[in-house]
Amino acid sequence: MADPKTYTADIPLHIAIIMDGNGRWAKARHRPRVFGHQAGVKTVRRIVEDAADLGVKYLTLYSFSTENWSRPKAEISALFGLLKEYVDADLETLDKNGVRVKILGSREGLSDDLLNVIAKVERTTQDNKEFHLNIAFNYGGRDEILRAIKAAAKTNVDLSELTEETFETYLDTGGLPAPDLVIRTSGEKRISNFLIWQAAYAEFIFTDVLWPDFSRNDLVGAITEFQNRERRFGSLKPAEVA
Ligand code: IPE
Ligand code: IPE
Ligand code: MG
Repeated sequence: MADPKTYTADIPLHIAIIMDGNGRWAKARHRPRVFGHQAGVKTVRRIVEDAADLGVKYLTLYSFSTENWSRPKAEISALFGLLKEYVDADLETLDKNGVRVKILGSREGLSDDLLNVIAKVERTTQDNKEFHLNIAFNYGGRDEILRAIKAAAKTNVDLSELTEETFETYLDTGGLPAPDLVIRTSGEKRISNFLIWQAAYAEFIFTDVLWPDFSRNDLVGAITEFQNRERRFGSLKPAEVA
């Protein structure tokens, strides 16, 4: 498949991915679920590079949801460990490549150790502008909206006069563009509390590919499908507008 960067149509500015299917990938190999999560981190490394190379500027990856706390303790601590390992191993390269990293989500329930890792990666990369990697960790869209309301209420902003533009500045994604394209792997067709405010007008692509198997070719395919979609934002096709 030809790379979409050779096409004239627009590359999505912001792609968000629900990285799903690690457990099933491991199960198919008769390995523990954590083995699938480790393979999933390898895919993260590849896809960050591929997205940047294809001209995407913002990539948001869903890596731990507020609902994932209902999983077994051992799996939760493995997922937390993987975030720390990823940052420890990749921070230098990400920074060298001009990647700004943000961790979206609640800080509640995270260990001091992990909070330090999060603060370090955000602080180190805060001036980078080449590419924006957002990791949604301990993230839930409803929780984010509630936290934003509470944060706004603590300021002297008049809530009865609140606009969408002002409200958005209180979200974890304040200052970031909304996702143009949301991809979910593993065949599930639901949003699972991901970017429920921000994805209001995103295009959605659902693929059966399990996250550890998600390839550059799959990303190119999704971008190509996106380029063939017609986004109307509630209006009419351009030709129908008088
Ligand atoms: C996605 O893979 C990673 C997380 C949700 C943390 P899953 O762990 O949900 O994998 P499946 O859906 O059980 O295959
Ligand atoms: C969504 O996947 C959360 C992440 C990818 C981090 P889940 O596997 O947790 O979602 P459900 O439970 O199938 O909706
Ligand atoms: Mg899942």
